[in-house]
Amino acid sequence: MERLQKFIAEAGYTSRRKAEELIKQGKVEVNGRIVTELGFKIGGKEQVIVEGNLLKKEEKEYYLLNKPRSIITSVSDDKGRKTVVDLVDSQKRIYPIGRLDYDTTGVLLLTNDGEFANILMHPNNQIDKVYIAKLRGLIRGNAINKLKNGVMIDGRKTKKCRVKLRKIDLKNNTSIVEITIHEGRNHQIKKMFREVGFEVLKLKRERIGIFTLQGLKTGSYRKLSPKEVSVIYSLQK
Ligand code: URA
Repeated sequence: MERLQKFIAEAGYTSRRKAEELIKQGKVEVNGRIVTELGFKIGGKEQVIVEGNLLKKEEKEYYLLNKPRSIITSVSDDKGRKTVVDLVDSQKRIYPIGRLDYDTTGVLLLTNDGEFANILMHPNNQIDKVYIAKLRGLIRGNAINKLKNGVMIDGRKTKKCRVKLRKIDLKNNTSIVEITIHEGRNHQIKKMFREVGFEVLKLKRERIGIFTLQGLKTGSYRKLSPKEVSVIYSLQK
């Protein structure tokens, strides 16, 4: 069951706020009866007519993209740069779930399903976001422990997380670290490493929950299966 104004907005007719106005103005019919009540809920099978137009619920789409570098994570760009949405051939109004920086690569999900996006983003659902970071310098146990326990970024401590050292390159003075978080704060990984004295040279998101880059070349994408979508819905707390 969902609110009538949400249904109208998700069908792509107008914004939720405008939909509320139309309901109040008596311009919305549900199964042949005018509804002016804002709390009115529908199951999705009803016939909804707005200003004489029969609405069709927009079909949901779900994609997994292996994001390349030098692409912005946004629906559109005022400077005309290519966005992640331009890489996916879809007629629906899809958008990226969360953000990857311009120079970050890896797993990015896109959808037009707001509820699905909320489940993935909400830290309470404890969905792993696994990043591989290449750092300038040789990281040691004390910095790794600090990261695991949480560091202050933007005035707030990060939640406990998993951190594993994958490789140290003495010759080139770099380290490769795997870090798994459940939050999704702005530039979180780069800021966390900066806080313990390391610059991130390269960053890749290797996994979100059950979604990995397996079989996906950089810049390519695939649709999620109905089974994968239902696994995410089942994680909702
Ligand atoms: N953390 C960052 O710093 N950058 C990203 O792109 C994702 C997480």
